[in-house]
Amino acid sequence: MKPLVDPFGRAITYLRVSVTDRCDLRCIYCMKERMRFLPRDELLTLEELDRIAAAFVARGVRRLRFTGGEPLVRRGFIDLLHAVSRHLRNGALDEMLVTTNGVQLQAFAEPLARAGIKRINVSLDSLDHATFARISRRDRLNEVLAGIDAAKAAGLKVKINTVALKHDNAHEITDLIQWAHARGFDMTLIETMPMGEIDADRTSQFHSLAKVREDLSAFWTLTDLPDRTGGPARYVRVEETGGRLGFITPLTHNFCEGCSRVRLTCTGKLYLCLGQEANADLRTPLRECADDGPLQAAIEAAIMRRPKGHDFRIERLARPASERHMSVTGG
Ligand code: GTP
Ligand code: 5AD
Ligand code: SF4
Repeated sequence: MKPLVDPFGRAITYLRVSVTDRCDLRCIYCMKERMRFLPRDELLTLEELDRIAAAFVARGVRRLRFTGGEPLVRRGFIDLLHAVSRHLRNGALDEMLVTTNGVQLQAFAEPLARAGIKRINVSLDSLDHATFARISRRDRLNEVLAGIDAAKAAGLKVKINTVALKHDNAHEITDLIQWAHARGFDMTLIETMPMGEIDADRTSQFHSLAKVREDLSAFWTLTDLPDRTGGPARYVRVEETGGRLGFITPLTHNFCEGCSRVRLTCTGKLYLCLGQEANADLRTPLRECADDGPLQAAIEAAIMRRPKGHDFRIERLARPASERHMSVTGG
C-alpha cells in the first residue's frame, strides 16, 4: 500500500497510541486534581486498537509508541503488545515502545520485555520524596524507583523524561542527570507545554531549557550529537558523565518541519499535530465495515489535512493552546 505523506512532504512513519487517558498520578503541569476522563463507553477495544495500528503499519509506520495517561493502568495492555509484536517479527515494524510513569513498573517490567519491548521512557521529575509528591500529587517515588530498577534488571533500555519546572525541580536537574547517567540511562528534559486546563499557571512553572543548557555548560562539556530517535529531542553528550542528554524545547525552538508522527487516542480520534485541534474520527469507519477500506480512506483524508506545526508561544502560556490534555494523546 502507498506510504502516507502529508501536504508538506513529511512521511508519517511514527504512530503514538494512547491506550487510556487515565492515570495513577496527577502531575501539576499535566492534569487537574479532579479530572473528567473520556467516557468509558467510547473506548476502543484492544482488538480495535490493534486493527488501527495494523492499518498504519500497512501504510509505512515503522515505529509505534504506546502511551497514556498511564498505559499500565489499562487492563489487557500486555496482551495488546503481544498481538502487535507480530509486526516486529515479520519486519514491518522497527520498534514498539512504551512511555510510562513507572508506578506499576515493578510488576510489569518482565511482562513488557517478554511482549517484545526493548526500550521504555519513564517520567521522573524528582528524586526527593516531598518534591515528587508535590509535583505528581501522589507519594509514589519508591514505587517508581523500584520500577526503574526492575526495568533495568529485565534488560529494558530506559530513558528518563523530566519536565523542567521553575519552582519545583529546577535546582535538582543536575542531580537528576547525574543519577540517570550513572545508571546508564539517557535523559531528556522537557519544557512544559500549554495543553489542557490545569490548576496552576504554566507561566510561573515554565523553565527555559535554553537557560538550563547555558547553566550546565558552566561546569560540563556538552557536545552536540547528530542522534535522532524519531522524536523531537535534540541530544548532547555530557563528556563528564559520558551520558546522553536530550532537550525537548517546543517553546524555545520549534522542530515541526521534520515531524513524522501522528497520535491516536483511546476513543479512536487521530490527532494530526500535538499542538493543534485538527483530528479525524477513525472509530466510525473502523466499525462501519470489517474490511479496512473505509478506515484506510479516513486515514488518508486525515493526513491530507495535517497542519504545518504547533503554535506554542511562551507569552501565551497562561492559557492553554489546546483544550486537550497531554494525557489524551500521550505527548
Ligand atoms: P523517543 O524520542 O522515541 O524517545 O520518544 P519521545 O521523547 O518523543 O517520547 P516520550 O513519550 O518520552 O515523550 C517525551 C516528551 O516529548 C513528552 O513531553 C511529549 O509531549 C513530547 N513530545 C512528543 N512528541 C512531540 C511532538 O511532536 N511535539 C512536541 N512539541 N512535543 C512532543
Ligand atoms: N508539557 C510537557 N510535558 C508534559 N508531559 C505531560 N504533560 C506535559 C505538558 N503539559 C510529559 C510527562 C511525560 C511525557 C509523556 O509528557 O511528564 O514525561
Ligand atoms: Fe500521569 Fe504522565 Fe500526566 Fe503525570 S504527566 S499525570 S504521569 S499522564
